[in-house]
Amino acid sequence: MPDVKYVLNSGSIITEPAEAVKMVKICCIGAGYVGGPTMAVIALKCPDVEVAVVDISVPRINAWNSDQLPIYEPGLDDVVKQCRGKNLFFSTDVEKHVREADIVFVSVNTPTKTRGLGAGKAADLTYWESAARMIADVSVSDKIVVEKSTVPVKTAEAIEKILTHNSKGIKFQILSNPEFLAEGTAIKDLFNPDRVLIGGRETPEGFKAVQTLKDVYAHWVPEGQIITTNLWSAELSKLAANAFLAQRISSVNAMSALCEATGADVTQVSYAVGTDSRIGPKFLNSSVGFGGSCFQKDILNLVYICECNGLPEVAEYWKQVIKINDYQKSRFVNRVVSSMFNSVSNKKIAVLGFAFKKDTGDTRETPAIDVCKGLLEDKAMLSIYDPQVTEDQIQRDLSMNKFDWDHPLHLQPMSPTTVKQVSVTWDAYEATKDAHGICIMTEWDEFKNLDFQKIFDHMQKPAFVFDGRNIMNLQKLREIGFIVYSIGKPLDDWLKDMPAVA
Ligand code: NAD
Ligand code: UDX
Repeated sequence: MPDVKYVLNSGSIITEPAEAVKMVKICCIGAGYVGGPTMAVIALKCPDVEVAVVDISVPRINAWNSDQLPIYEPGLDDVVKQCRGKNLFFSTDVEKHVREADIVFVSVNTPTKTRGLGAGKAADLTYWESAARMIADVSVSDKIVVEKSTVPVKTAEAIEKILTHNSKGIKFQILSNPEFLAEGTAIKDLFNPDRVLIGGRETPEGFKAVQTLKDVYAHWVPEGQIITTNLWSAELSKLAANAFLAQRISSVNAMSALCEATGADVTQVSYAVGTDSRIGPKFLNSSVGFGGSCFQKDILNLVYICECNGLPEVAEYWKQVIKINDYQKSRFVNRVVSSMFNSVSNKKIAVLGFAFKKDTGDTRETPAIDVCKGLLEDKAMLSIYDPQVTEDQIQRDLSMNKFDWDHPLHLQPMSPTTVKQVSVTWDAYEATKDAHGICIMTEWDEFKNLDFQKIFDHMQKPAFVFDGRNIMNLQKLREIGFIVYSIGKPLDDWLKDMPAVA
C-alpha cells in the first residue's frame, strides 16, 4: 500500500504509513432518525466495518431489533434486514460499544433551550455533553469522535476540552460530519448524497482522522463529492444550508400571500422564477409552512450565534424566515375561520395529514400542530387522519409545550392530557363525514385519489376544502360543489368577500 500524503494549509506535506488509516469498528450514540438510517447504510456499503448503534432508550433499541422499526422511512427495512446481526447491531450497552469503537459518531438530540441563557434560541447541548463525558470516561484506546448532530459553531472546541480534560492520556480527534439527509428520502439521500462534508483540525493528526472517515464514505461516495474543510466551516455549513433551504420556502410563501391579493398563481410564479438556472426549480413549493425537526431549530440556533457574535442585523435577517413561516400558518387558520362565517365553534373540521411532509410518520414541528391549535382556539371539533401517525402521537403533539418534543422519549411527559375536541381516525372518509371543512396538511399521494364526490355527499353544506399543500385538482373540486382555498392560488369569489384579518 502506498503512503498517504496530507497537504497542510501552509503548503508543507506530511507523509504517513498507509496502515495508519485502517479502521475496524464504528459506534453511533443515538439511534434516531439520523443515527439509525445513516449507520444502516454505512453497514450495508462497508461489509468490512462493524457498526453498533446504541441508545439510552430501551423501547427504541427493541424496535430497531424487531420487525417494526421505530421510524417509517421508505427503503429502510430492506437495508436493516440485509445487515442486522451481520455487521449492524443495535444495543443499549452504550459503554461497551463506545469502548470497543475506533470511530464514535454522536447523533443525539440538540434541542432548543427552553430555560436560562439563550432560552427559545440557543441549542441545548446537555445530551451531547453527557455523551462526550461518557466517551472520555469509558475509553481505553484512542478514538475519533464525530459530530453527527447539528451543533452550534465551535461545539467541537468545547467537546475537545471535555474529552482532553478527562482523557487519562487517551487521544481523541474531533471531526464534524453533519448530515444532510431529508426524511422521507433518507435512504435515497444516503445512497446518493450531493456531498459528504467532513471538517477536522488542520494538524497531522486531524488530517489523518479526516482521511479515516473519508475512507469509510469512499466505499460508495465518489471522491470528488467528499468535501473536507476545517471544523468551524463544517459546523457552520450545516446551519447555513438549512437556513438557505428554509429561506427559499419562506420567500415563496411570502409571494403566495401577494399572489392571493393580486390574482397571480404561486405555482406559475415559482415555475417562472425557478426556470432561471441561477435560481433552479427545487424547494419552491408554496405550502402552509415548513415543519420538521431541523429548519426552525437550526435557524434559531444561527440567530443566537449571530447575536452572540455582535451581529444583530444578520440575526434579524434570519429571524424573518421564521416569522414568515409563522405568518403563513396563522394566515391559513384565518382563512379557514373567516370563510366559515368567522366562526368554527363546534363545527367539525377534518384534518387530512399530520406528518410534517409525506412519506414519514414524523410530526416534529409539523405545521399541522399550529394550524390545529389555531382552530381549537376558535373551538373547532377536529377529526384527524394521517396514514402514518398514531392517535397517541397526535394527542402528545397537541398538548406538549413548545420545544419539549426534542428530548429523548423517556424524558417527555408519560401520559399527555387528551385534547377532548380532537378525534383521530384511520380513514379519510370517516374523518370527513359530517364535516364542514377539510384542511389538507400533508401532501400524501393517497389524498389525491380520494373519491371527493363521495366525501362531498357526506359533508355539511356549504362544504370547504382548504389545501395547505397545493395538491388538489381545484377545478374538479369546484365542479363537485366545494368552496376551495389553495395556498397562493386565485381566490374563489366566496373567499374574496371574506377577508382574513387577524
Ligand atoms: P432523534 O430524537 O430521532 O434521535 C436522538 C436519539 O439520541 C434518541 O433516540 C435519544 O434517546 C438518543 N440519546 C440522547 N442522549 C443520549 C445519550 N446520552 N446516550 C445515548 N443515546 C442518547 O433525533 P434525530 O432526528 O436523529 O437528530 C439527531 C441530531 O441530528 C440532531 O442534532 C438533529 O438536529 C440532527 N439532524 C437531524 C436530521 C433529521 O432529518 N432528523 C437531519 C440532519 C441532522
Ligand atoms: C431538512 C433538509 O432538507 C435536510 O437537508 C436536513 O438534513 C434536515 O432538514 P427535512 O426537514 O427532513 O430535511 O425535510 P425537507 O424536505 O427539507 O422539508 C422540510 C419542510 O419544508 C417540510 O415541512 C416540507 O413540506 C417543507 N417544504 C419543502 C415546503 O413547504 N416547500 C418546499 O418546496 C420544500
